[in-house]
Amino acid sequence: ATKLVRQILTFSRQEEQEFQPMELQPIIEDSVSMVQTTMKKNITIETDLDPACGAIHGDPTQLQQVMINLFTNAAHALGAEQSGTLSIKLKQVELHGRKADDQSIDLDPGFYACLTVKDTGCGMPPEVQEHIFEPYFTTKKKGEGTGFGLSIVHGIVRKHRGTIAVASEQGTGTTFTLYFPLLLETAEQEQKAIDLSIPEGYGHLLFVDDDEAVLSMGREILESFGYSVVTATNGRRGFEIFMQNPEGFDALITDYSMPEMNGHELIRQVLAIRQGIPTILYSGYMEKVDGEDLKNLGHSAFMAKPIDWRELSRTVQKALGQEV
Ligand SMILES: Nc1ncnc2c1ncn2[C@@H]1O[C@H](COP(=O)(O)OP(=O)(O)OP(=O)(O)O)[C@@H](O)[C@H]1O
Ligand SMILES: [Mg+2]
Repeated sequence: ATKLVRQILTFSRQEEQEFQPMELQPIIEDSVSMVQTTMKKNITIETDLDPACGAIHGDPTQLQQVMINLFTNAAHALGAEQSGTLSIKLKQVELHGRKADDQSIDLDPGFYACLTVKDTGCGMPPEVQEHIFEPYFTTKKKGEGTGFGLSIVHGIVRKHRGTIAVASEQGTGTTFTLYFPLLLETAEQEQKAIDLSIPEGYGHLLFVDDDEAVLSMGREILESFGYSVVTATNGRRGFEIFMQNPEGFDALITDYSMPEMNGHELIRQVLAIRQGIPTILYSGYMEKVDGEDLKNLGHSAFMAKPIDWRELSRTVQKALGQEV
């Protein structure tokens, strides 16, 4: 059983890898022309495909299977009628949450490719609609249908994190509505990308932490941002370095909890020598920073560990009056 589970996991992972950014419009067009050759002449096909609908993350082969199944079913449903229309529409929609009037839509808010496949064929009664996505379910004569079409469609749509819903009325027709999440850069994602751009600061920083790993990593990162950095491994040593050239530093960054002299005490002593120098104190999330109320300490900022170096750099830039 474990082996089987592992095989299934590997399989689905491999399948995921076939997924790629792709547009639905060309696949729909290809599938229409494939199905059209076998369709009766009295069926009109209307397509309204927005070329700017946007890309989804998907497998073109599987999605072609979806289209062909849906269009073939529609062609069958239209087959008995004297004339009829198959309309296929693709557009971009924004969903704001679940829609109460349609339980089959259970999607996160966001942007989706919305595909509707509508036919004016025979339609289905509710007791048929209920079962259409089940494997082996068919109303066709033996040898004419396997009943697998829509169950495969359903599986593929779910794999693409989409949904499929059906609305049908006997004698009027059937509409399938499909939603696929779009690979859109939302305003929020764009903002994140901007936030991740490297802040370029300048200035001479005194950086104190008793954790040498944090110290060397922080130094490297801050230097890559553009600062020059002097480090010290404890508060007492930090103060000694500061006293060698009190006017030489633009800002002090220090850990709170350190042996000999903690960051709080270091800041107090530094501010006594040089009032107004920007200071940033950080501490572990659960560490209690005792002493006076942080706001009354006179230092510029307090941050929690783990340190977000970009945030720290922005704080320094702000304190130094550099543009952020
Ligand atoms: N557009 C449609 N209009 C009316 N009934 C439909 C439509 N699409 C599907 N159905 C109903 O749903 C049933 C199941 O469809 P499904 O595609 O799963 O199997 P099938 O078409 O019967 O066989 P297969 O696709 O395997 O050849 C159909 O037999 C039919 O009764
Ligand atoms: Mg079918």
